[in-house]
Amino acid sequence: MRYPVLVASFFASLSVAAALFPLGYFRESASLLRHSISSFHGDQLPMNPGPVQSPISSTPDGASPNKDGGGVDDSTVSISDILPQTRKINIFASLTRDVSTVTTRLESTKPEDNTTVLAPLNSAMQALPRKPWEDRPGDDSGVSAARSEDKAAQNLQRFVEEHVVPTSPWKKGPEGKIKTLGGQELWWEEHDGHRIIRPGNLVVDGIVGRVGNGEVWAVKGVVNYA
Ligand SMILES: *[C@@H]1O[C@H](CO)[C@@H](O)[C@H](O)[C@H]1NC(C)=O
Repeated sequence: MRYPVLVASFFASLSVAAALFPLGYFRESASLLRHSISSFHGDQLPMNPGPVQSPISSTPDGASPNKDGGGVDDSTVSISDILPQTRKINIFASLTRDVSTVTTRLESTKPEDNTTVLAPLNSAMQALPRKPWEDRPGDDSGVSAARSEDKAAQNLQRFVEEHVVPTSPWKKGPEGKIKTLGGQELWWEEHDGHRIIRPGNLVVDGIVGRVGNGEVWAVKGVVNYA
């Protein structure tokens, strides 16, 4: 399969491997949510995320993609291939792996599945007042994510889906208004050379990947998931 298998066989001890590669490369051995939660709390975040190619250097917003960037602007690879390669968004990248609706889409090469992923920076993920799998305040569904793995998985799915814009290229301005997979309507504008996602005024840090089925935008916050 892919590199997780290689890594797992390389390290005799799973715990050693897990310590070196905390960000979701050992999901087979952990339950879905334990995996997400531990990757989210990854104390070892700055460590090498795994034996992937050198991370794609982020291109300044709006600049032409770097042809030597190891995957940028390559139509033979998909978003799911490049998403784990950029360290500054690897918490979010790791969470997407637990959401099958999203992984399927990011692997798809059908033109109608083109996608713009809004990937919050690790700093934004770490600053969240509420973890993506926790219930929103005022949740009246009667089921608590603290007690139900299904509910927690649902919350996580919703969070991830709010960051998946089902189009690429994504048109600028109000005519580009589109609902995320999570259901919120977003559009983006450019101000002083920065892309700003409305209505939440989410600032785009840069486009970190551009491949055949879409783009990955690193963003300095999260889409409202209330
Ligand atoms: C999908 O993305 C590719 C690469 O950017 C682009 O060439 C193609 O026109 C897009 N297709 C649709 C339907 O948006």
